[in-house]
Amino acid sequence: TKKILLFCDPGIDDSLAIMYSILDPEIELVGIVTSYGNLTKDQVTANAAYLLDLAGRTDIPIIPGASMPVQEEQNLRIYPEIHGEKGIGPIKPPSNLRYKIYPFDMIRVIIEKYKNELIIVDTGRSTTLATVFNLYPEHIKMVHSIYVMGGAFFVPGNATALAEANFYGDPTSSNLVVKNAHNLTITPLNVTQHAVLSEEMVEFISKNMKNVYAFLMEPIFKYYYEFYKKSTPGIQGAPIHDLLTVMVVKNPSIVDYIHYDATVIESTEAKGMSFIDIRPTSKKGKTRIAVKLHYDAFIEEFKKVMLNG
Ligand code: BDR
Ligand code: CA
Repeated sequence: TKKILLFCDPGIDDSLAIMYSILDPEIELVGIVTSYGNLTKDQVTANAAYLLDLAGRTDIPIIPGASMPVQEEQNLRIYPEIHGEKGIGPIKPPSNLRYKIYPFDMIRVIIEKYKNELIIVDTGRSTTLATVFNLYPEHIKMVHSIYVMGGAFFVPGNATALAEANFYGDPTSSNLVVKNAHNLTITPLNVTQHAVLSEEMVEFISKNMKNVYAFLMEPIFKYYYEFYKKSTPGIQGAPIHDLLTVMVVKNPSIVDYIHYDATVIESTEAKGMSFIDIRPTSKKGKTRIAVKLHYDAFIEEFKKVMLNG
């Protein structure tokens, strides 16, 4: 099994990534680290707790991380119009849900426990993961690999014309991560934007889903799709960026890659923009960057896991 520590900001596609990680018997979710991003830190933490509670998986530790970027506070913009007032579409997690949270140092404890078996997946702003690099530099070297949803190569961004939302939210932290992480895979917007679920697919899945998350699927997707219909005329569904990032851990061949060193621009009008040097003379680098999605394989895998349980 793949032992995953998930840094996230649920958020609809993060929520789907959590559900997927819980439902896939080949993934062991060993912790969830929550940060500001799609909604505030407190809200996304409550959402993560709700999703674990629904599945009876309150054994999985929840560790709250950053509540704001290290860059200008203006980046602390949240996105209820995409993800819902509370972050999971029209669903309101019970306000009286009680759950346990762990102190930040639990991240160090988890790394020590799993060492080179541990896979870190970050589907949120990079602030918290960058903080882990800062606080526990020796520990972060122990982990097996790091997967990051962020950046947009060769295509426009979604937060600005140039920048994708996770890297735009705290480009200084994103740059720290892409420069220092070993064994790093990036699944950027240019690939995740093709990991689209159609309305028909979601209808099929929710009809046939028998697990604890079945009732969530249709309402959260519909909410999310409404936003994408408006923002991307002609789109035939909504992209589940974060779920694809978790999926790639277990199914690396669902995407094709190139190997380069990436940079995230930290200031100026291009803030949050990611780029690689693709001039013919440039050296290939160490980061595996996804460039093409095998759509049918993605859908097959999605169906298989979501219909589990
Ligand atoms: C990323 O930004 C967030 O809003 C989504 O959850 C995803 O992680 C896509 O750019
Ligand atoms: Ca996210």
